[in-house]
Amino acid sequence: MSSIETRKKMLWAVLAGCCLLLLIAAVGAVSAAPRQVLGAKAADCAACHGADKVLPDSHPGVKDMKWKDCQACHTEGKMSLVGKMPGSHRHQFSGVDCAACHGKGQPEPLAMDKCVSCHGPTAKLAEKTAKVKPENPHTSPHYGTELDCTLCHKQHAKNENYCNQCHKFDFKVP
Ligand code: HEC
Ligand code: HEC
Ligand code: HEC
Ligand code: HEC
Ligand code: HEC
Ligand code: HEC
Repeated sequence: MSSIETRKKMLWAVLAGCCLLLLIAAVGAVSAAPRQVLGAKAADCAACHGADKVLPDSHPGVKDMKWKDCQACHTEGKMSLVGKMPGSHRHQFSGVDCAACHGKGQPEPLAMDKCVSCHGPTAKLAEKTAKVKPENPHTSPHYGTELDCTLCHKQHAKNENYCNQCHKFDFKVP
């Protein structure tokens, strides 16, 4: 191979490398981590997620939907939305906005009393899920009915099955 040809090849390799780096940088800039935007409407995904695709292209517009409208399509099985979005999303679509949990001003972590103030006494909650198999998630020999809700129902992260640190209960945490 002549030295000119080798040089040409090297030049192309360098150019291709540069293009790839530019592409990676561009993609990185677009898919930034989602942000918490106080007062953004639940349906305005882009306000917090930017240009990230959080809904498929073919998805119907959700602007005027409430959570119960989502259930028309998102029923059971693969279509179920259980566990697919952080709890704050579901709450917002049910009309519970940032301030309903955090009050006015800068958001701070909440005490479980706040959840109980809307969802009723913990003993009543345990009654509601008494028939859940293999065990009732809302009561246990270890913690009674007083285990902090947010150990399982995360509002700003993926839900967790707290019991499964030690057990194998196939709960689907809503
Ligand atoms: C008219 C039917 C319909 C309605 C109403 C609807 N969706 Fe969907 N949604 C779909 C379809 C179809 C998909 C694609 C499912 C797939 O292929 O995995 C989807 C996908 C999604 C996904 C991505 C799920 C995944 O598994 O990656 C999310 C999140 C979502 N929808 C949220 C919502 C929310 C929130 C609402 C209500 C505000 C809603 N959808 C209302 C039909 C609907
Ligand atoms: C259903 C109640 C609920 C709703 C609705 C809710 N949050 Fe939260 N938020 C929490 C809980 C609980 C925490 C504590 C940390 C955790 O569990 O993720 C928290 C933590 C936070 C934090 C971190 C505070 C800190 O100092 O660590 C911010 C910021 C925040 N929320 C902002 C928002 C915004 C903005 C909205 C509306 C888009 C919102 N939250 C809606 C319950 C809620
Ligand atoms: C201002 C009242 C309010 C507060 C505070 C609140 N919630 Fe909710 N929550 C609701 C409403 C309303 C719904 C929707 C109920 C429905 O659609 O039937 C809901 C739905 C839920 C669901 C889904 C239930 C289901 O049937 O799938 C869970 C789980 C939940 N909340 C847990 C919590 C936790 C944990 C906290 C505290 C961090 C909390 N909530 C704080 C009002 C509230
Ligand atoms: C150990 C994990 C865990 C903890 C802690 C927990 N939950 Fe749950 N919760 C679950 C699971 C799992 C389900 C779904 C049960 C089922 O399959 O029906 C559920 C269901 C619910 C529902 C829907 C009940 C219904 O069927 O109508 C509400 C509301 C709820 N939880 C609120 C709370 C609140 C409020 C707290 C705190 C007082 C709490 N949870 C603590 C795991 C937990
Ligand atoms: C108020 C801001 C806000 C709005 C509006 C919002 N999101 Fe999110 N979303 C977040 C944040 C922040 C996270 C990362 C976890 C967290 O901190 O709550 C997140 C996480 C998610 C996740 C879990 C996977 C991931 O990327 O971390 C899905 C799925 C999701 N959002 C879908 C949606 C859809 C669909 C919409 C519109 C219908 C929407 N979001 C509207 C702020 C928002
Ligand atoms: C840190 C570990 C740990 C966690 C977390 C934990 N458990 Fe247990 N649990 C145990 C151990 C150890 C036993 C006793 C061994 C046995 O009998 O299998 C037990 C026994 C039990 C029993 C009675 C015995 C049985 O298996 O029938 C129930 C019911 C139970 N756990 C429910 C729960 C529930 C519900 C949660 C979540 C809310 C939970 N546990 C979280 C460790 C744990």
